[in-house]
Amino acid sequence: MKKILVARAVFPDVIDRLGRYFDVESNQADHIFTSAELGAKLADKDGAFVAGERIDASILAAAPRLRVVSNMAVGYNNFDIDAFNRAGVLGTNTPDVLNETTADMGWALMMAAARRMSESERWLRTGAWDRWAYDMLTGVDIHGSTLGVIGMGRIGQAVARRAKGFGMRVVYHNRSRVAPEIERELNAEYLDKTALLKTADHIVLVLPYTAQSHHTIGAAELALMKPTATLTNIARGGIIDDAALVVALRERRIAAAGLDVFEGEPKLNPGFLELPSVVLTPHIGSATEGTRRAMANLAADNLIAALGEGPQAGQPPSPINPDVMARWVSA
Ligand code: GLV
Repeated sequence: MKKILVARAVFPDVIDRLGRYFDVESNQADHIFTSAELGAKLADKDGAFVAGERIDASILAAAPRLRVVSNMAVGYNNFDIDAFNRAGVLGTNTPDVLNETTADMGWALMMAAARRMSESERWLRTGAWDRWAYDMLTGVDIHGSTLGVIGMGRIGQAVARRAKGFGMRVVYHNRSRVAPEIERELNAEYLDKTALLKTADHIVLVLPYTAQSHHTIGAAELALMKPTATLTNIARGGIIDDAALVVALRERRIAAAGLDVFEGEPKLNPGFLELPSVVLTPHIGSATEGTRRAMANLAADNLIAALGEGPQAGQPPSPINPDVMARWVSA
């Protein structure tokens, strides 16, 4: 029987399912492995189920039998894919099953930021609320405003689709324009980044983290935004220069931000904790029971199929670098 490591705690029934095919070493205590520990655990494994753990050349070098690492996440910036290709290891991820849930979260954060929900609740809980006031906690409107989506992939499109009910204009920026029929369906207008930053009332970031997208939003970009605008990040830490955002919020150069992801998370810039105008959540964009189950099962499907088992044997549903599999066959 092939051996796999499930590197993080996950639904017990998913572990049971994997156990039908493999000799499973699980980690239901959810111990966070150091890189060296992970390398040691993978030394005799054929496959691994991870959820954001960094997998690089040094770990792959410690794992000579490893064929597949299945990420329970759509983003895979934790994988050094060049190193995977060199080592002939397949990476897989969990696209699509989380699109709608993550888009909902983008809207929740955007609306909470625009309407000062966290700030209002924190204040209410202090017991200070003793009267109505015409200017109490006034925010900015969502309906009838302009939504700016940066990163028009599947989740970005799901974010944009929701704008119709709010009577919003939709503008977007992406590495390349999406197909005309998608633009038409979403009523979305392509703008260059500068024009989008100047035009949008509410900007939502939904792009993958790469060397190119590092600090897509920094001091210069924040300076182009409207003082009444909000900025929401449901993508990855590092896409925003968090230190620059702290300064922009502190100096009220933009109205508010909604952040689910942070540079260096789970640590975050302490400046955010001092600011009333930022809504903070701990990377829960896909966190509904149904979606997390779908992600875990898709990650399991990928692992089972990539290791030649189950109904989809040899055809994992969402491979990142499928070319390496041809090398297994010919090896
Ligand atoms: C979550 O951040 C994911 O990439 O799925």
